[in-house]
Order: sequence, then structure tokens, then C-alpha cells
Amino acid sequence: MGKNKLKRFAENKDFHHVFQPTREEIISGFDKKGRWNSDFFKNENPLVLELGCGKGEYTVALAEKFPDKNFIGIDIKGARFWRGAKTAMENGMENVAFLRTQIELIDHAFGKNEISEIWITFPDPQIKFRRTKHRLTHPDFLKKYHRILKENGIVHLKTDSEFLHGYTHGIIQLEGHDILLSNHNIYNPDNYEIPEEVTSIRTFYEKKFLTENKNITYIRFKLNY
Ligand SMILES: C[S@@+](CC[C@H](N)C(=O)[O-])C[C@H]1O[C@@H](n2cnc3c(N)ncnc32)[C@H](O)[C@@H]1O
Repeated sequence: MGKNKLKRFAENKDFHHVFQPTREEIISGFDKKGRWNSDFFKNENPLVLELGCGKGEYTVALAEKFPDKNFIGIDIKGARFWRGAKTAMENGMENVAFLRTQIELIDHAFGKNEISEIWITFPDPQIKFRRTKHRLTHPDFLKKYHRILKENGIVHLKTDSEFLHGYTHGIIQLEGHDILLSNHNIYNPDNYEIPEEVTSIRTFYEKKFLTENKNITYIRFKLNY
């Protein structure tokens, strides 16, 4: 393992705002579940998650824009979100945390009605049919999100993948959820309804896709079961 990675792992261990429970700790009654605000953030502000946060750019940038909300970036790769964790610490941000776990375990990490919004930014679209269940907007994932979201909770998906955008659109309609906003090319100058936080924050992957002249899509929805 590279020296840099080892250094990042060591720093993550010392960061008070980085949580790295084992799978067993998460499954067998995680102590933060349902208590993120009371135990860690020490306020009652809305709690927002970013799934597959990579370097944590969206998590940190949203936290800067919305100081009255709390943000948790989730990724299985701690050496990646170390970047966001370090920036949040250097900037003295108290509304940011990172959780290293599998998104599949999300309903073990958060309690019922604990979450106000979920952002999914540039996930692997999992195009192959046999990978369908791994798409982060597959109905099995949506059920998990519903378990932790408040009644009017919102899910945002930002992706370069027309495929994943279309798949998600289809699933949302098929299951009778509400599409609140859907756009195929957020940087089209004719757009006026795209919120500023959707166009002004660009992650590592988004920047890469923009240099490849890909359209960036966005869909925002509410789950009804
Ligand atoms: C394509 S990258 C996008 C990163 C970031 N959102 C961005 O836009 O730059 C996908 C990220 O999701 C994480 N990831 C993929 N599947 C995951 C899972 N099942 N649980 C947790 N993290 C996952 C990967 O480690 C990776 O950092």
C-alpha cells in the first residue's frame, strides 16, 4: 500500500468527524443510528446524506452553502473521502461528517425518519443487466432510502449516464413516486429551473465527464409507498 494511503488511513482514525464502523458493528446495533444529531452534530438541523461521495466535494460544498443543515458523506473508500474530511476540518466546519460503509447497509446506520435529503452523485450506472440490483436507484435501494427518509424527504440523482437517468425515471414512474424535477442537460443555457446547488458544484467525476463533452443530467424525486 502507498505511503499516502497509509497516512490518510491514519489521519481518518484521528478525525473526530470520520466514522469507520465494521460491518458487524453496523449490523449489530450501531450506536449512532437515530442519534446522529443528538450525539454528534448537537443540534436538530436537517440531516443530508451523499452516497458514494468519493472525495466528498459535494458534501463539503453543500455544507458550506447550507450551514443550517448537517451533511454526511458515505463511501466505502476512506482514502478518497479523507480529502473532504481534511478540508472540512481545516475550514472548521461543524456540519460535516463522513461514514465509511457500504451503501447497502444504510438502513442500519440511520434510523426511521432521520434523513431529510439524499444526494447520489455520479454513481457507477451498472449498465450490465446482471448488475441491475447494484444500481443505486434499483427498487431495493429505494426501499432502504424510504426507511430512513422523513415523510417529505427528497432524493437527488446527478449523473452523466443517460442510461441511469432514464432507468431511474422509469422506476420512479412505475412505482408511483413523485418526480419533482428532471433534466437531461443541466448546463443548457435555456434552463431556468435548475437550482444553483446543482450547477455550481462539480465533483472530480463531473469535471472529467464535462471534458468528455457529456451531458450532465439531474432528477429529484420523493418516494411514496
Ligand atoms: C464514480 S465514483 C463517484 C464519486 C463522487 N460522487 C464524484 O462524483 O466524484 C463512485 C463512488 O462510489 C463509491 N461506491 C460505489 N459503490 C459503493 C457502495 N456499495 N457502498 C459505498 N460506496 C460505494 C466508490 O468507492 C466511489 O468513490
